[in-house]
Amino acid sequence: MIIYGLMKFIEQIPERYDRLIGWLTLGGHLTARDRMLAAVAPGRRVLDIGCGTEAFLIEAARRGAQGWGVDTSGPMLRVFRRKLAAEPAEVRERIAILHQSASLLGKTFAGRPGFDLVTSSLALGEMPPIVLEAVLRQIPAVLAPGGRVLICDELWPETTWRSLFYTGLLAMTFVPNFILTRTVIRPVKGLPGKLAAAGLRVTGRHDFAGGVVSLLEAEQAA
Ligand SMILES: C[S@@+](CC[C@H](N)C(=O)[O-])C[C@H]1O[C@@H](n2cnc3c(N)ncnc32)[C@H](O)[C@@H]1O
Repeated sequence: MIIYGLMKFIEQIPERYDRLIGWLTLGGHLTARDRMLAAVAPGRRVLDIGCGTEAFLIEAARRGAQGWGVDTSGPMLRVFRRKLAAEPAEVRERIAILHQSASLLGKTFAGRPGFDLVTSSLALGEMPPIVLEAVLRQIPAVLAPGGRVLICDELWPETTWRSLFYTGLLAMTFVPNFILTRTVIRPVKGLPGKLAAAGLRVTGRHDFAGGVVSLLEAEQAA
């Protein structure tokens, strides 16, 4: 809620998104990104869901990975394309940008080699439940054998008092949030369970910036 209450506002100014999201997550988003980058190696195929203005994929491509970024937002992708245009040709050639919903992943990548790494950062909570379920269900189908999934997000708290606190904050910000952004977004409840239901085995969790963001690691369930 702390992040999701404000995230849509800052997406409305994509030029400043990178700086503001760093502040909003108290730097936790950047620490998580470094952990995600540690899973990148030359030649690896990386898919980023809800890539936005994308600093992660560009850095992954600089390290020799092949990157695909999927996002529904034209303004966020415009900033991504502008950043990418400033990169050397060999980095630009390693990245493909897809302006579409991640709910079409299975169809888009059918018959193509699987991804060694599927990532998503602060995007899942923006998806309506039916879209989220469709996206998660398609991840195992686009993973290469032995491929990994890394999801950085604000997780709905598991402890009762924190959950109550979040519910209160959500209730207080609901109306102004809806009036200003015309959307209702919130951290995903029970994300580890949803990943398991989609056929992914959660293998690790790391919390950053005092739990403001978390990184979930998963792989295809056997
Ligand atoms: C808060 S931004 C996160 C951007 C980037 N991943 C990051 O970590 O900074 C969330 C992004 O998810 C995208 N998004 C929301 N729903 C989506 C969907 N169904 N398919 C693809 N992208 C989506 C939004 O357009 C937005 O760019």
